[in-house]
Amino acid sequence: MTDKKNLRTPIVCVMGHVDHGKTTLLDKIRGTAIVSGEAGAITQHIGATEVPIDVIIDKLGDPRLRDRFMVPGLLFIDTPGHHAFTTLRSRGGALADLAIVVVDINEGFKPQTYESLQILKRFKTPFVVVANKIDRIGGWVSQKDMPFAATFKKQSSDVQARLETKLYEVIGELYNQGFAAERYDRVTNFQKTLGVVPVSAFTGEGIPDVLMVLLGLAQKFLEANLQYSAKGPGVGTVLEVKEEKGLGATLDIILYDGTLKKGDTVVIGSLGEPIRTKVRALLKPRELSEIRYESKFQQVSKVTAAAGVKISAPGLEGALAGSPIRVATEDNLEEIASQVKSEIDEVRIDTGSVGIMIKADTLGSLEALVHEFQKDEVPIRKAEVGDISHRDAVEASTVEDPLYSVIIGFNVKVHPDARDFLQESSVKVFASDVIYRLVEDYQKYVKEQQE
Ligand code: GTP
Ligand code: MG
Repeated sequence: MTDKKNLRTPIVCVMGHVDHGKTTLLDKIRGTAIVSGEAGAITQHIGATEVPIDVIIDKLGDPRLRDRFMVPGLLFIDTPGHHAFTTLRSRGGALADLAIVVVDINEGFKPQTYESLQILKRFKTPFVVVANKIDRIGGWVSQKDMPFAATFKKQSSDVQARLETKLYEVIGELYNQGFAAERYDRVTNFQKTLGVVPVSAFTGEGIPDVLMVLLGLAQKFLEANLQYSAKGPGVGTVLEVKEEKGLGATLDIILYDGTLKKGDTVVIGSLGEPIRTKVRALLKPRELSEIRYESKFQQVSKVTAAAGVKISAPGLEGALAGSPIRVATEDNLEEIASQVKSEIDEVRIDTGSVGIMIKADTLGSLEALVHEFQKDEVPIRKAEVGDISHRDAVEASTVEDPLYSVIIGFNVKVHPDARDFLQESSVKVFASDVIYRLVEDYQKYVKEQQE
């Protein structure tokens, strides 16, 4: 039997198209009201929320379930619709252990729904699909916080049929994307078939069902992935580099393995030499609260995986979003630094030979783009994190082949001097915040050029 205390909290990423209800769903799970405090209800930053198992069991309403699950809780990460989930990378994979894909049952699939599925498929991440906003189905009579089966029974047969029709449109789309899916209570084997849970994040209907499926997936996941623990030197990923009043540059990180302590020496990826620094303060949001909305952070002396934490330390300015952060000792500092550096170099491409140029906002999104273009056998001359600079524009303009005199920009800005230059040049710029759209647009462009 595994020691329960060393099990780390599984990381659950909530994904899906803008406005389909990711934050509202999390909000319901947390039982707080973060959405109402959000400007325009649009999530601006990535945050993490730890929900202890007791809170989850409480929502399920059956205390006997307590002994069935080993997980200490779930760490939910709310990725804004416009932000690449891929920021959350870890060496060789995605950081999320599990995921929830939220799709508005009335609107159906949208670009970021497809994108989420592609990423999950690539990283083989187990997930559950939430068919949200069932309360908007014509004639629906809401039954606050009820499990799906109970509320479904209370609906008229017309309404039931309407839900089934919409639900099977979602299931059909999943099938087109290569997933066998079914309404979750009709699934017999969750290893083979994706569960789709009809939910209203608004009224809470179906929420207990989502939690139940998630705990089941988490349990299975833990049985297969016990290599991560709460012990040992800390390893994490940088979500964001943020300026904080009085603290200077800080890092929001997700620690996915081991322990991180105040005073620890850490190595963090940057565009140049990795940053080596000492943790001055660890700032943790309280349980059931959000990193983004906690103005007064709580100082802690250590955190254990998995956790979202803010780090204050000298010299964090050049840190890269999506890059690794690792605890080192005096003895292995240089070794760890060179590992971090090679991990970043693996993603960046700077060959100077033939090919397109790719610029992205984080290391994770860059990696995903490089992967997609390489899959299509598109040569890449340069791929790096950062906005499109004047230098990039000039470099791209020196390429004669129109197929490669191209800059692909994912979630990046074009510097004003670069913009002026590009307007006068024949460089083709593709910019979007949807990865597969960039790939498609480029393919279309290549076709046009070849005709
Ligand atoms: P981004 O963070 O911008 O990507 O959006 P999101 O996916 O987090 O969506 P959010 O939770 O902010 O919800 C968008 C809007 O849909 C808000 O106005 C919510 O109140 C509403 N909404 C979310 N879930 C439901 C639901 O189940 N039913 C109804 N009627 N409205 C919902
Ligand atoms: Mg949101």
